[in-house]
Amino acid sequence: MTDYSLLGKQLAALAEGEPDFVPVLANAAALLWDTLDRLNWAGFYLMDQGSLLLGPFQGKVACVRIPLGKGVCGTAVQENRSLRVPDVHAFPGHIACDSASNSELVIPIRSGGKVVGVLDLDSPEFDRFTSEDQTGLEGFAAVLGAAVDFSRLRG
Ligand code: SME
Repeated sequence: MTDYSLLGKQLAALAEGEPDFVPVLANAAALLWDTLDRLNWAGFYLMDQGSLLLGPFQGKVACVRIPLGKGVCGTAVQENRSLRVPDVHAFPGHIACDSASNSELVIPIRSGGKVVGVLDLDSPEFDRFTSEDQTGLEGFAAVLGAAVDFSRLRG
């Protein structure tokens, strides 16, 4: 079981001192990659001029821009909710960046009352993410929303 309370504290410590989103999200992706097992991608897409732009991540090269309403990430933003997908091949419009991915968890990051991006986790294992993972990582995203300065984003 992942200790999400500890993970939140580690993240808050990483954001102290320099809250700019680039270094904090880069370290957050590294922290998640080190802490969670059975992942093949962990990272962020950020709002940029009306669509999602690739942000800091760990894993294989990924698609650069995702329109709102497209893929798991764009759908999570459009619907303003987390999406936990046990089998990505059964998700209409799933965008396959890495053919090894079989399940996915996408969580919106909210700051200043709006969605500024998403946390995206992919696994080669079907049904990798539990409801406890979802709740824990929603807490992680809430720490990001509160502690990180997203003001340089182009929305
Ligand atoms: N699978 C995502 C695209 C991003 S990659 O997984 C890194 C989607 O359908 O939105």
